[in-house]
Amino acid sequence: MRLEDRIAVVTGGGSGIGRAIAQAFAAEGAKVAVTDVKGDTAEETVAALPGEGHRAFENDVSSGPGVVATFEAIDAQFGRVDILVNNAGVDKTPGDGFDQLMKTGMLLVHMSDEGFTRMLEINVNGVFFCSREAVKLMLREKRGGAIVNLSSIAGLSAQGTVHYAASKSAVLGLTRACARELGPHGIRVNALCPGVIDTPMAAAIPEAAIKPLVGATPLRRVGQPEDIAAAAVYLVSEESSFVTGQWLSPNGGLVMC
Ligand SMILES: NC(=O)c1ccc[n+]([C@@H]2O[C@H](COP(=O)([O-])OP(=O)(O)OC[C@H]3O[C@@H](n4cnc5c(N)ncnc54)[C@H](O)[C@@H]3O)[C@@H](O)[C@H]2O)c1
Repeated sequence: MRLEDRIAVVTGGGSGIGRAIAQAFAAEGAKVAVTDVKGDTAEETVAALPGEGHRAFENDVSSGPGVVATFEAIDAQFGRVDILVNNAGVDKTPGDGFDQLMKTGMLLVHMSDEGFTRMLEINVNGVFFCSREAVKLMLREKRGGAIVNLSSIAGLSAQGTVHYAASKSAVLGLTRACARELGPHGIRVNALCPGVIDTPMAAAIPEAAIKPLVGATPLRRVGQPEDIAAAAVYLVSEESSFVTGQWLSPNGGLVMC
């Protein structure tokens, strides 16, 4: 088993990609702290994990004080953190004018300040808050660590809405800066940039928009959460011990860069 006795935190682990990552980590021997803004879904994930000692925590990653309290609780339960996956994220926000995108093909001019800011609060501030608290624990233990941040093909090639693409590009910048700063401490930081993955988030994309994307994908299918989980296991295991500050994009060939 590749992650035996490692303590892993997976944010947004109550659904989709985060749930699959928690399952893959547990199958590789890790003890997993599953956090989600919907605490009941985090509990459901934990109940289905193989092995013992996993725990669920209700946490909104966009709240700085809330994240501090959650990592204190994780530290009290597990005594350290070896792995963090910053997976929690949204692709729509209240007031982002998404209905207008469907009607007019434009989002920028219809988006409210709040709609844009809320996206950054969850998708970017959340990564910052969780990374900061996890890294404090990693530095304390002097055992190194591994962080994986969920960006997207939207962060690479702007396939996606303006606020989502901006947030996922920011995640890549944060990933690289953290990798540079933390490498000397044995902490590796990498990003995943999934293509279209079959989760509740992608289920909300209209079929009319999905079909041409699949047609333009050389592998002619959407991805499964397990495709991303396998890549996450690689990025936090010893197999990738010389990999930091990079992104890996399981996307079926839709985006090549
Ligand atoms: N599904 C895709 O096609 C796709 C593609 C590229 C990137 N991603 C990224 O992968 C990650 C997971 O996406 P998914 O498809 O599994 O989505 P999902 O909607 O199935 O799961 C996201 C999870 O994050 C949680 N969450 C939302 N806001 C939160 C908050 N403020 N605090 C804590 N938890 C919160 C949700 O409750 C949910 O459990 C996201 O960062 C997403 O942007 C997804």
